[in-house]
Amino acid sequence: MKKILVTGGAGYIGSHTCIELLASGYEVVIVDDFTNSVAEPLQRLQKLAGKSVSFHEVNLLDEAALDAVFVKEGQIDAVIHFAALKAVGESVEKPLMYYKNNISGSLTLFDVMQKHGVKNLVFSSSATVYGDPEETPIKEDAAVHATNPYGHTKAMMEQILMDTSHAFDWGVVLLRYFNPVGAHESGEIGEDPEYPNNLLPFVSQVAAGIREHVTIFGDDYDTVDGTGVRDYIHVVDLARAHVKSIEKLAKHDKGTLIYNIGTGTGYSVQQMVETFRQVSGKEIKTVVGPRRPGDIAECTADATLANNELGWSASYGLQEMIESAWKWQSQNPNGYRDAK
Ligand code: UFG
Repeated sequence: MKKILVTGGAGYIGSHTCIELLASGYEVVIVDDFTNSVAEPLQRLQKLAGKSVSFHEVNLLDEAALDAVFVKEGQIDAVIHFAALKAVGESVEKPLMYYKNNISGSLTLFDVMQKHGVKNLVFSSSATVYGDPEETPIKEDAAVHATNPYGHTKAMMEQILMDTSHAFDWGVVLLRYFNPVGAHESGEIGEDPEYPNNLLPFVSQVAAGIREHVTIFGDDYDTVDGTGVRDYIHVVDLARAHVKSIEKLAKHDKGTLIYNIGTGTGYSVQQMVETFRQVSGKEIKTVVGPRRPGDIAECTADATLANNELGWSASYGLQEMIESAWKWQSQNPNGYRDAK
């Protein structure tokens, strides 16, 4: 494995993964159309890595343009596929947009890969495919029953890839991410949502004085303090899981491998906010509101399989996750929008 094509490489998880790939000696080709991202992290990640990437501004639905990328780049050894829409609430309101982007865009990519004989893929899946799990920590063989269109697209993509790897002898790794948070240690690249849907970016913006308070979505769950518990994973650890997956594909017989990527430890909303207060030294106002529809009480990973088979485990704890998130927020109060 030498040359890796990364779709969505300008995005939050994609940009961190490109840095780790470059640090491990891979050549990186990025395909992104800036639907949900900007160009700035591409400059920054190349500077941080001290290496350059090849970049193509292409929408995955544009088969001719995608084909031209594969022709131009020559031999691609594997693809890491991040490019997708990811907001749960929006997916409920605009399901067709989600199916078109996440499914049709991926199918086009897979067709082009097959045409060019590229048979290795790492796919960005999500713990959302487990829906409301019967038990936690969740193992990979737990039932898959997503509960919203975004989750359905992830579950469908998993099935499509299992069928494809079987039919065409592809090697596929499906990584089911739990809750990615944090930023690169430099504070130069991080998560840049215009309006945050997720807890930690929201808390960061409250700590920075951009928003007034955090609404806690329910404090009557059956958890340690009544607030929702999640398995937060440092984005750099998550990025490294992709590098490990590429290494695995280099040695592995064909077929589909599925791994949970989390730390195995859950933290409540209250615990997250409290740790953020300690790290930032800022007052963070909270207001308890109603439960958010579709939320579950608790979701944590059993990542034993990734430990054993990928040789991966999380190296960062909560403190480092929040310190890096705060560093990114402090250095970039308006995300990438301040960049010259
Ligand atoms: N929460 C709040 N207030 C907020 C935002 C979130 O109290 O303003 C709570 C939620 O109720 C939940 C926890 O914080 O208990 C985490 O919520 P996030 O929105 O940060 O994350 P989710 O676990 O809901 O969703 C994330 C990803 C999804 C993915 C899912 C997989 O955003 O894309 O994990 O389980 F599908």
